[in-house]
Amino acid sequence: MTPLDGSRASRAARSPHGATAFLQDAVAGLRSTPKRISPKYFYDSEGSLLFDAICELPEYYVTRTELSILEAKAGEIAASLAAGGPCRVVEPGAGSGTKTRLLLRALGPKRCVAYVPVDIAGDHLEQTAAQLRDENPWLRVVPIAADFSEGLPLPEADARAARTVVYFPGSTIGNFDPDEARRLLARFREAIGPKGHVLLGVDLKKDPAKLHAAYNDSEGVTAAFNKNVLRRMNVELGADFDLDAFHHYAFYAPVPGRIEMHLVSARRQVVHLGGHAFTFEDGESICTEHSHKYDLATAERLGRSAGLSLADSWLDDGRRFAILLFHAAA
Ligand code: AVJ
Repeated sequence: MTPLDGSRASRAARSPHGATAFLQDAVAGLRSTPKRISPKYFYDSEGSLLFDAICELPEYYVTRTELSILEAKAGEIAASLAAGGPCRVVEPGAGSGTKTRLLLRALGPKRCVAYVPVDIAGDHLEQTAAQLRDENPWLRVVPIAADFSEGLPLPEADARAARTVVYFPGSTIGNFDPDEARRLLARFREAIGPKGHVLLGVDLKKDPAKLHAAYNDSEGVTAAFNKNVLRRMNVELGADFDLDAFHHYAFYAPVPGRIEMHLVSARRQVVHLGGHAFTFEDGESICTEHSHKYDLATAERLGRSAGLSLADSWLDDGRRFAILLFHAAA
């Protein structure tokens, strides 16, 4: 585990959406009933490593399945994206190196004019950008440090880019409740203009036992990932969470069609953060994540509610995951 490290805390304080936003959100989330904290706070460097480890777990089929679809269909997908001329690829929350690389390579220099990763974590963003430029000298990479869940501040499109593609893989859309998901997609719709595309990765509904296993791995990596948000609040916000006094709890709720992740207090306890005291009853939870699972009809309806119409879809043989291509509805 990372030791208490002042340089990390001060780095967070300097970043545009760093410690202040985290502190405000943490206090507001712990004050609300039920208690909650946004899953976007899982991903500091420790959390990103833990997520990478999750992706390697035998139970966590999500990333592997999406990659297998891309490996098989990237050529077809690229052809659809660039059918009307070259495009620029905008990726909100750019963290998924391998998938992006596959897509950009499939597009190639003739069909891809620029790659615009948008991410809160400035360091991570610059690293990704440098690496991509290194591997693809033809590629113009224009990173933007922003919290995409609060808007998508894009530069003017390059004159040569006939269209903008918003690439949102990984089933990150699943972290947004239906209303937020609709608003987010509506912002993507605005960003792509009348001729662009949204390429969306969504995890599909399936046997609840398989979903349950994917969020309750036998090695406890998901539990460590979940608890990382408590560690972050201790390190960056000076909180005093006892990490052993909260338990990872994740389950699939079939009616809303989502995994819920919680951290459940093992006893009655008081935790301090930002000059506030928060009481936890025995068994009280902090909800840390919703991960919505879709079926094709529901995903299509969600898109339509945001002004997007489904143009194409690519699934794995087991129908576990779908890559969906939307364009602006007429
Ligand atoms: C990155 C949001 C798609 O919901 O499956 C993995 C995050 N949480 N294990 C997901 C996650 C627990 C993941 N997403």
